[in-house]
Amino acid sequence: MTELWVEKYRPKRVVEVVGNRESVEAFVKWMKQWELGRPPEKRAVLLYGPAGVGKTSLVLAYGKEHGYDVVEVNASDWRDEARVKAVVGESSLQATLEGSTRKIILVDEVDGIAGREDAGGIAALSKIINETRVPLVLVANNPWDPKLAPIREKCLMLEFRRLKKAEVVKRLKEIAEMEGIKVSDVVLEKLAERSEGDLRSAINDFQAITGGREMVDERALEALGSRNRVREIFDALRMIFNAKSVRAARAALEGLEVDLDLVYTWILDNAPEQIPDPEDLAEAFEALARADLILARVNRKQEWKLMRYAIPVMTGGVALARKHKPSGFVKFTFPPRIRFLQATSTERELRRSIAQKIATKLHLSTTKALSQMLPYISFIMVNDGGMGEALARYFEFTPSEINYLKGGKAEEVKVVKARGRTGRRKS
Ligand SMILES: Nc1ncnc2c1ncn2[C@@H]1O[C@H](COP(=O)(O)OP(=O)(O)OP(=O)(O)O)[C@@H](O)[C@H]1O
Ligand SMILES: [Mg+2]
Repeated sequence: MTELWVEKYRPKRVVEVVGNRESVEAFVKWMKQWELGRPPEKRAVLLYGPAGVGKTSLVLAYGKEHGYDVVEVNASDWRDEARVKAVVGESSLQATLEGSTRKIILVDEVDGIAGREDAGGIAALSKIINETRVPLVLVANNPWDPKLAPIREKCLMLEFRRLKKAEVVKRLKEIAEMEGIKVSDVVLEKLAERSEGDLRSAINDFQAITGGREMVDERALEALGSRNRVREIFDALRMIFNAKSVRAARAALEGLEVDLDLVYTWILDNAPEQIPDPEDLAEAFEALARADLILARVNRKQEWKLMRYAIPVMTGGVALARKHKPSGFVKFTFPPRIRFLQATSTERELRRSIAQKIATKLHLSTTKALSQMLPYISFIMVNDGGMGEALARYFEFTPSEINYLKGGKAEEVKVVKARGRTGRRKS
């Protein structure tokens, strides 16, 4: 059956897990301790590091190889202490009584509980670590939140780093061979570079550009261009807000193929967070207001040559206005207005139910299914006609879900259209 390669080629044995040898071996050693009896200390292990480098895969592979049932729990789905106990607590105590099948409890997205107001989740998890009778594996992308200190203390901490480019290329090559696909090293290297050591996204990209064909050349990489947009815009914003001169700020937009109206909205919506000083902010808004007038004129009278005045004002004007920086790092955000328009409540519900189905099949939390897998699945369904049906069956998508995913390509267009509807400068 046609499947998603990330799942098809998920390591089935520990030796198949690429990279991070030290942590992989330390994990195996820790599991061996459990096999000799409950270890006196460090009854939990915390695997941490960026997305798509093999943390979940290692645990699943070990379980498969050594006959463990891996019970997956997503910390991000916990509501309160009672629920934590219900899901983790019970299995962690019962396991030995049941006898026959051995268990590993895998708690993903532990960093998610730190973000919550109530400390109940962390306290409950600490307690479970103390009491567990089965190996407890925690996973987090960022384990350094101060609130997680009590958990870190009790865990064997194992770091997973981004995979090396050569490691990613090697794995892609193996997949190409198994799929019988002809592809040059250059293409695989580009995919690896793009992935920044995230093998999940590299494999997803590879499958997406292949589109069911048996030969893939460099032209196929172009298909990925549009998905880079968001990251490109974030980079441009960073350059704009940090520029020391108008020239540098203006340069941020060079080569960025995005609608200028859209860039304007991104700058406008991020300015309050990025410019903490009220006087600086007032000045920045003044520049933006001026740019807005010019843009309105461009739109109304189609006087494109005015554009070159709007750009330095909306980029350089904002950069120079910003004399004070926020203390600490402030993330750029997707403009809330666009985000809101993009996801109506039915759309949000649809996305949520799709994400739940993906999450169950692919060993992810729904949050991750939304951000890491949904765009790829949509992309594959749109670009590889042959695969749409198989995927729909595999994930048990309903017709309306399929419809939504197949229209996934329209998302970007919709953003632009949505902007028109706000009527910001219709007057
Ligand atoms: N080290 C690896 N060796 C082999 N395959 C890998 C490795 N890392 C990732 N993969 C591939 O990417 C997919 C996702 O990997 P995995 O679920 O292990 O990531 P993760 O580190 O748990 O990421 P996240 O933090 O997002 O949960 C796997 O199904 C597999 O196909
Ligand atoms: Mg994982």
